[in-house]
Amino acid sequence: MFSLLCHSAVGVRAASEFVPNSEQRELAIEKILTWDALAKAHNAKPGEQDVGFEFRFQNKTTGEIRIKRADSSCGCTVARLPKLPWVITAGQKGGIPVTMDIRGKTGVITKAITIVTDKGIIPLKARVAIGNTSKPLTKRSKEERAANLRAAALNRQAIFQGKCADCHVKPTIGKQGKQLYATACGICHEAKNRAPFVPDLRPLANGKDKQYWQEWTAQSKPNTLMPAFAKEHGGSLDERQIKTLVAYLVRIFPRELKTRRAIIQSNKPALK
Ligand code: HEC
Ligand code: HEC
Repeated sequence: MFSLLCHSAVGVRAASEFVPNSEQRELAIEKILTWDALAKAHNAKPGEQDVGFEFRFQNKTTGEIRIKRADSSCGCTVARLPKLPWVITAGQKGGIPVTMDIRGKTGVITKAITIVTDKGIIPLKARVAIGNTSKPLTKRSKEERAANLRAAALNRQAIFQGKCADCHVKPTIGKQGKQLYATACGICHEAKNRAPFVPDLRPLANGKDKQYWQEWTAQSKPNTLMPAFAKEHGGSLDERQIKTLVAYLVRIFPRELKTRRAIIQSNKPALK
């Protein structure tokens, strides 16, 4: 176990050194596990929407290392892990696929992915440079927004149809859990200038159970502007997607608010 310390003293590279995503390198960075890089970068081509990274590792220690979870700094970026805890035995090699959804984004975006193991955490970073040729997908004129609202008032399932689907459905395709929340729900519920009747879900999430999230997501309530996402109601999400979403909303979502509050709190100047 203590051999870890020796390992980490060799070949440490600055975490801020971004390696082109396309580059194949030897595993050399010893940080709990031995990695090919702790930070990867990619230049997005016009029209690119989901960028995939793979962080490769090997357990060069003599003991096993348990990966407990992966946290990311934003719902747009997720690391896909197998069933947890993921036990990496001595000598075992592996890779952590990370996808970043860059729809509607411009400029250079850097996202942190924290791999939490029983031996400590490993900070990974993914950076994507996006040319400013792609105009933000979600920009709408006042008139368009008002027309969308009228369409939704007539039929709360309108977001799944026609042009609405470009923003409200396409970004959710193939997504799960946190990333699914960000694309399917966050578009309304996390929007800075959302309409006043769209509630902030974070403060009310505490103590809400599976059934609450399942029912609101799959069926919602008639005569509201909250859509019903289950396929059987004309929604866009299959059962498996809803399951991963509900699991995220019950287990992780309420904790995120606590973490955010703790960070805000710790950044406040101490009382004199
Ligand atoms: C270009 C992307 C885009 C399209 C197309 C789009 N929406 Fe939206 N929609 C958004 C965004 C972004 C928000 C969050 C509010 C904001 O930031 O403007 C939103 C919010 C909403 C809301 C919540 C109320 C509000 O305005 O805050 C409803 C309801 C809605 N959309 C319905 C629709 C319907 C119905 C259509 C099709 C007729 C549609 N949208 C097409 C991007 C889009
Ligand atoms: C088109 C915009 C829109 C999208 C997308 C959307 N919601 Fe909503 N949601 C609403 C509105 C509007 C309400 C308020 C409904 C009402 O009138 O009570 C609401 C209400 C809710 C509530 C009830 C909160 C309470 O008062 O207890 C929950 C829970 C909820 N949404 C979850 C979700 C989840 C989960 C998703 C993603 C699968 C999602 N919403 C996607 C617009 C949206």
